[in-house]
Order: sequence, then C-alpha cells, then structure tokens
Amino acid sequence: MTAEKVVLAYSGGLDTSVAIGWIAERTGADVIAVAVDVGQGGEDMDAIRKRALACGAADVEVVDARAEFAAAYCVPATCANALYMDRYPLISALSRPLIVTHLARVAAAKGATMAAHGCTGKGNDQVRFEVGLASLAPGLKVLAPVRDSGMTRDKAIEFAAAKGLPIDVTARSPYSIDQNLWGRSCETGHLEDIWEAPHDDVWAYTADPAQPREPDELVLRFAAGVPTAIDGRQLDPLEIITELNQRAGSQGIGRIDMVEDRLVGIKSREIYEAPAAVTLITAHSELESVCVELDLARFKRQAEQRWTELVYDGLWFSPLRRALDAFIAQASAPVSGDVRMRLHGGRAVVTGRRSDASLYDYRLATYDTGDVFDQSLSKGFVELWGLPSKTAAMRDRRLADA
Ligand code: ARG
Repeated sequence: MTAEKVVLAYSGGLDTSVAIGWIAERTGADVIAVAVDVGQGGEDMDAIRKRALACGAADVEVVDARAEFAAAYCVPATCANALYMDRYPLISALSRPLIVTHLARVAAAKGATMAAHGCTGKGNDQVRFEVGLASLAPGLKVLAPVRDSGMTRDKAIEFAAAKGLPIDVTARSPYSIDQNLWGRSCETGHLEDIWEAPHDDVWAYTADPAQPREPDELVLRFAAGVPTAIDGRQLDPLEIITELNQRAGSQGIGRIDMVEDRLVGIKSREIYEAPAAVTLITAHSELESVCVELDLARFKRQAEQRWTELVYDGLWFSPLRRALDAFIAQASAPVSGDVRMRLHGGRAVVTGRRSDASLYDYRLATYDTGDVFDQSLSKGFVELWGLPSKTAAMRDRRLADA
C-alpha cells in the first residue's frame, strides 16, 4: 500500500520545517511541502526547496504566485480601499486564500488526503487556512501540529536539534513576522507591552521617516480602479507595487502601530509596514472622490468595510465577498485618471487629480465669475430638507410645554 499524502503550507521557517518530520512520524504519510512565493523576499525559493527536502519532505512544490497575488488580491484590496479598523491593509489576510488555493490545487494533483499548516490557535491565520480549505477542498483532513499536537517552540527546537535539521535556530528574530508584496506584519517580543515604543529593529520595509531626504513626486494612473502606470510608464500590478514599495518605503511611508481586534477575541499589538498599499489606497480613494457620485460613494464605504472584515475573518471564498466584488467592480467603472502625489516625511500626500470621468464641475464649484449654480434653488431645497426635523422639534416643544 502506498503512503497517504499530506500537503503542507511551507514557509521555510523553524515551525514548518520541523512540521515536515513531525507530521511524517505521527501519520506515516508522505509530506509534500508547498512553498508559495507571494513576494516575501528574503530567502531564495531554491534554498527553501532544498531545506524542505533536507527536512524530510517527500516532494516540494514551489509556486511563484507574485503576479497573481498582485493582480487578483492586492488590486481588489485597492479597489475596496481595504483597511481593517481603518488602518491595517490586510497584508497577511490577503495572502492566505492564495496560499490555500495552491495547497488545494497541489493536493488534488498529487492525490493528497490531508493538508497541514503551522499556525497557532491564537491567531487569524488558522481560520483563514481552514475555512479556505473547507471551501476549496472539503474532503481534506486538516493537521495543525503547532495548535493540536503539542509542537511548541521548545519542542520544535529540540526536534530540530535531535534530527540535525538544517535550521539555524539562533538566527531567529524575537518577533513573529509575516511578509509579502503588500507589506510586513510584525508582532510579539517587546511589542506585547503596548506602552513600549517600537524598537528600531522592527522596521524592514521602510526608512526612518524623520531622516532628512528629498521629496519624491509621482503620478499614478488608474483605469476602472486598477493602477496601470507610474509617471506615464505602463506597468503591471506587480511592477507598480514593487516600485512603490521601494519609492514610498524609502520615504518612510506606511508604518502602522496598532492594537487590533483578532477574530478569536484577542486584542493584539501589531506593527505593519505597507508602503505601496498605503500609497495606492490613498491615491485610489482620492480618485474615487472625484469620479464617484455621492450616493454610490457613501454606500461603497459600507460595502468596503464589509469586504475588508470578510477578508480579515477568513471568508475570502464566501458568496458575499464575491457579490461585493461584483458591486465594487461596477462602482469602479468610472474610476480612471491620474493622481499626483508627493512622497515625503512618512506621508503620501495627494497634490493633484485629473480624470475624463471627473464629476468635479468648475462652473458649479466656483465662487468666481462663470458660476452656473442657481443659488435661488437652494432656498426651497433647504426648507423641505429640514421639514421633518422642524416638525418633530415643534411637536417636542409642544409636549414639553403641556
Ligand atoms: N494580525 C495580522 C492578521 O491577522 C497579521 C498576522 C501575521 N501573521 C503572523 N504569523 N505573524 O492578519
């Protein structure tokens, strides 16, 4: 009888490297490590492949998913101006459904019956992995060794030493870090004291915003909500995000220090760096201000918040997220044009906007000659607009006096 197979979401770090042998020992299954490149940088994917094999993987699948992540996850997040709790651009939350998609694909291709991840039981990522897997590959049994079979940090280090696994445990950062094209998440260590300011060593994607440097000015072009060019150079989403991470990051843009509500009920202190995400969302929402009609714009803000919470909560594959995407696509149709931004001192500031689909009408807005707005119409409008409030206030006064 051939061994059962398990696909493991593999990062190359200590936990998932140990998980290879840990799972193999406990289940007798062949472990297929699936390493998905979502632009996390750092190590070469080939080094990660070799480590998986050295740690006992029966097979390794390395997927370059950067372009897909940019176009199918970061762009929709831009169109949704997705900021959880008004601040967090969903960095890790966005990458999980993509990783799950590839895990499910490899599982089907290789005939795996189980899928494994290295998440703890305290975070959101376990939810995103398992709810995503349940949607895409409901037949797979899920293994979560860190959460469910006592694979604690100490045990993992012990296991790695006992088996002589090629992992440098001394090189471990004091932080729990997750990074990709859309940004970098950093937690634990001294950050767990929410009064303590972040030490300089938590930052990696951004330069110190207080350092003196020349401002950088750029023009971002959007077509139907999708970023398409920088300074007139036509680029794909991956190229745009990569360039903005570099340019905005070197101006110290996108640093976020927040206490966040996790789905599992814990408040946790998180440090994020998201230079491209913050720059793109700032530009995109500004262009919307120019191109989207009042009622649609107001309603879209509610839809955006719902979209963002669904993605944060691990419900990427839900029917509501798909339906909201259809709404957002429709609402984004007129969002085409240019936004000029000044990147400096940790901020991406919009200094100009232009669009063929602009609803800004100088003749209506101006207080100078050329004004075509008929102010005499406002008198009756204001009177009727306030009529319900006025009637209620008169009633309240009458009852108070009685
Ligand atoms: N709190 C963020 C989220 O839930 C970031 C999680 C980062 N994951 C990690 N393993 N450090 O989206």
